[in-house]
Amino acid sequence: MIKETAPSNIALIKYMGKEADNIPSNPSLSYSLPHLLTSVQISKIEASEDQWRALESEYAIELSEKGKARYLKFFKKLKDQFGLKSSYLIESANNFPSDAGLASSASSFAALTKATYSLAKAELSTADFQALGFTGEFVTDREKLSALSRTGSGSSCRSLFDKWSEWQTDFAVEENFAYANLLHLAIIAEEDKKEVSSSDAHIKVKSSLLMEGRTARANKRLADLKNALNEKSWEAAFEICWAEFWDMHALFETSEPSFGYMTSDSLMVLNECRTYWKANQDGPLVTMDAGPNVHLLFRDDQRSCYEDFVKIFENKFKIWGSES
Ligand code: DP6
Repeated sequence: MIKETAPSNIALIKYMGKEADNIPSNPSLSYSLPHLLTSVQISKIEASEDQWRALESEYAIELSEKGKARYLKFFKKLKDQFGLKSSYLIESANNFPSDAGLASSASSFAALTKATYSLAKAELSTADFQALGFTGEFVTDREKLSALSRTGSGSSCRSLFDKWSEWQTDFAVEENFAYANLLHLAIIAEEDKKEVSSSDAHIKVKSSLLMEGRTARANKRLADLKNALNEKSWEAAFEICWAEFWDMHALFETSEPSFGYMTSDSLMVLNECRTYWKANQDGPLVTMDAGPNVHLLFRDDQRSCYEDFVKIFENKFKIWGSES
């Protein structure tokens, strides 16, 4: 049996808008989150088709029929890529609750890509494996795997990396900044499943007039954010991340027809963040994905700030963090 894991990631410069095969309209930059991890195990079965089921665990994954079909279709694609002919059972689990609105396709698709790569490495001869362009060394093969994972779910291409990762077009690459280790806290403003999936959002935003100039804005923010992270300009990084997630949510709200994820609770959380920054001239980086939850990132010297935010929100909302 083959087992692999992959972390989720939180984007600070957002992937929003895409072409065929999940080629993004603009580059993105993310930080990986190992406390939001998917484990995948693959075993051979005597059956005519591949199967998926949730691994028995504290946090069992629930997949809709559509979600299961998408996952198995991607596995078939990976198998074809590696020339694997048998049928397999895929079992997966998360290390976080699946009903908290935190699950993303990033960790589950990246974990499946990694597990299928390990399966192929075990089943193929070294010569056959190398003929496919793989060395067998994960770190060397990682960008190739990132390109494969991207075709399953775009954001998963950044989940092959331990910390920072930048995705321009085909695959993501590792990045290193002066802020090497961050703490993460998610404030769960709403637990319900979202009405518009992020995959649908990529298509819908094309109707927004604000898409004009979006690529240029994301490129500019990416360059500015990389500078800020290199030069340890935390406040500048905060301002760039804040503007960036509002830009993405403005795309949602100005699409035709419009849609959105922001709730009154999301706004309340955002206001608390702003108040904290004003009072302390310091605070976390703040961002939101295509959902109502708010993600906070702290420098590793901001543990007491992290605790402040736990105290502010723990009695109002579910929270899920790297330090809890
Ligand atoms: C808002 O990767 O979920 O989280 O490629 O269709 O699977 P597909 O979309 P997905 O989009 C994630 C978008 C985002 C921003 C980001 O992670 O960069």
